[in-house]
Amino acid sequence: MALGDLPAEHRADTGRTVLVAGTAAIGGFLFGFDTAVINGAVGAVRETFDPSSLLLGLSVAAALLGSATGAWFAGPLANRLGRVRVMVIAAAVFFVSGLGSGLAFSIYDLAFWRFVGGMGVGAASVIAPAYIAEISPARIRGRLGSLQQLAIVFGIFVALLIDFALATYAGGAAEPMWFGLPAWRWMLLSLMVPALAYGTLAMQLPESPRFLVGKGRTAEAKAVTMRYIGGDVDAKVEEIRRTLALERRLSMADLRGPTLGLLPIVWVGILLSVFQQFVGINVIFYYSTVLWQAVGFSERDSFAITVITSVTNIVTTLIAIATIDRLGRKPLLLIGSAGMTVSLGALAYSFGTAPIVAGEPMLSEVMGPVALVAANLFVVFFGLSWGPVVWVLLGEMFANRIRAQALAVAVAAQWIANFVVSTTFPVLQDLGLAFAYGLYTFFAALSFLFVLRRVPETKGKELEAM
Ligand code: GLC
Repeated sequence: MALGDLPAEHRADTGRTVLVAGTAAIGGFLFGFDTAVINGAVGAVRETFDPSSLLLGLSVAAALLGSATGAWFAGPLANRLGRVRVMVIAAAVFFVSGLGSGLAFSIYDLAFWRFVGGMGVGAASVIAPAYIAEISPARIRGRLGSLQQLAIVFGIFVALLIDFALATYAGGAAEPMWFGLPAWRWMLLSLMVPALAYGTLAMQLPESPRFLVGKGRTAEAKAVTMRYIGGDVDAKVEEIRRTLALERRLSMADLRGPTLGLLPIVWVGILLSVFQQFVGINVIFYYSTVLWQAVGFSERDSFAITVITSVTNIVTTLIAIATIDRLGRKPLLLIGSAGMTVSLGALAYSFGTAPIVAGEPMLSEVMGPVALVAANLFVVFFGLSWGPVVWVLLGEMFANRIRAQALAVAVAAQWIANFVVSTTFPVLQDLGLAFAYGLYTFFAALSFLFVLRRVPETKGKELEAM
């Protein structure tokens, strides 16, 4: 059937669209796995290379800085080469880094390869939200965009599970496993498997219609729109063309606006990213085992608690997926901010009541469970709201013309914020856990006001209406 013969209102096959969005979201799995896996390896890396604390910290943080770099460059690349090619490049980069870091011969070598792998993760974390938003029908765009978060939290879960299994059954990540290589090396090498899957599957993906129209490949754009998005295909493609027609050469300069040199909407994206990190979510996933040990749980129990917390995060993401296109983005964010403020406040309070014994807070019999419940409630509220919603919003809130660039800036900011939170936590912890969590409580409360005042609702709107 020629395109011209299409009925004006065409219904795409939703199953196919879910599959395509799901493939793009595998990048999220790399994200979660890569950022979480290092925590189980860090002790063993110390044993292997005996580095200074600074160098060890640097080799852990290298991936986050690499991600910020990768995110930044992904925007311009996605406009030039296409969304799909950037996914394939990201997968290749990530694959190589799995090999390099797994076989690293020194701490510097390890830091280098972790940085390289981070670039892949960072690029993937920009492309997935953009691509998914661009290929989804508006009525289910929130659900499909949330697949990114589902993949991230699943990646975190798998990494923690492996850490837990190694700690419990193999005697730790430093113990030799197969072929004389210690477990930590296998953990890093194992990153090559999802990277390979991501790369080969991404090669099968259709390019996004918004990119195709931008390149003048209108017939292809119509075919993709027909298959995956549906609706009045001709009108849709014409609308994309119209919004892109304003375009000159795309560059970072297109983001210029009156507020500190950037368009206000770009600032909203940056702040969404920064708040998502400044509530301290990754402290839970990167440090909670240490945290629960500090408050008196055994190493094994602490690990188990962290794994359970990551399951909680998966379940709540599913709830978000079920509700995001009905309730809308803003209500979810507001519920999340309110819930996080209360639960983080309770956490800060419980640590505030604990006397310090031998450098560690000793939670009382009442406050121990309070802290445990509060920490998990915090993850529940985050998982329902800021976790998935920020990814969805970042994918859809920018106009076609600036999407890739603006997303790259916002996501790079997110990685930097992640870096800041994870590297400052040990210092804040020394100042007192009540202080650390008090700070996160403050940002959670502030995020409520920010959403109320500044964040636009995008539910059900066409991308061309942004
Ligand atoms: C979001 C954050 C990520 C975090 C995850 C935890 O995806 O961007 O940094 O690890 O949520 O649920």
